[in-house]
Amino acid sequence: MTAQSVHFQTRPTPASLPFMKLLAISGSARAQSTNTALLQAVADLTPSNITIEVFAGIGDLPVFSPDREGDATPEIVRAFQQKIAAADGLIIASPEYVRTLPGGLKNAIDWLVSGEHVIGKPIALAHASHRGDDMLQTLRTVLSTISSNFNPGIFLRVPVMKQSPEAIADFMTQPANRQAAAKFLNDFAAFCRDSRAIKPSAMDL
Ligand SMILES: Cc1cc2nc3c(=O)[nH]c(=O)nc-3n(C[C@H](O)[C@H](O)[C@H](O)COP(=O)(O)O)c2cc1C
Repeated sequence: MTAQSVHFQTRPTPASLPFMKLLAISGSARAQSTNTALLQAVADLTPSNITIEVFAGIGDLPVFSPDREGDATPEIVRAFQQKIAAADGLIIASPEYVRTLPGGLKNAIDWLVSGEHVIGKPIALAHASHRGDDMLQTLRTVLSTISSNFNPGIFLRVPVMKQSPEAIADFMTQPANRQAAAKFLNDFAAFCRDSRAIKPSAMDL
């Protein structure tokens, strides 16, 4: 099997792109997570103009409450929000739990909703399984609600469920999979660059 990079909107890959700093958020709190491993493998394949920080810390965030926003925001949440603010774009990869997104990922997203940084943030999805389409559908709805620049057409799906992080890293070095990851990254970097010119609209919740 090979990775699939799905593109509903075709976009030419530019010859050169400005420097991009991306944040890759895993929706799994599991140490041996296939989604975290996929994000790390993609991060290890980045071209020189892109850096990717993998964030695998959603399990450390406290449960969201509006009572803990503003001055009451916990320091660990502030640090997470600052990572979001500093990123040119977000890549999210998540498992499906009970046909939807894991509570930890939804909780992390809830901490972002009242802030302004995620409103126009470019976001793309990756996914480390051939299963999980109910979760993907719900996550697309959630992400298009929190950001005007979520792009469902830039999507990397890699069928590596139940594999070890080492096996996933190895799988992603195979030429076809490396090529799919490169196309995904190039397309997303181009989208992030183009999105810089787009003024985000206010969230309508
Ligand atoms: C609590 C729980 C619920 C799950 N529910 C589903 C499900 O509804 N559909 C599905 O396809 N897989 C389900 N799975 C399997 C995970 O989605 C799958 O193992 C995934 O690859 C794990 O991702 P990770 O390796 O990044 O942690 C569930 C796993 C757990 C632990």
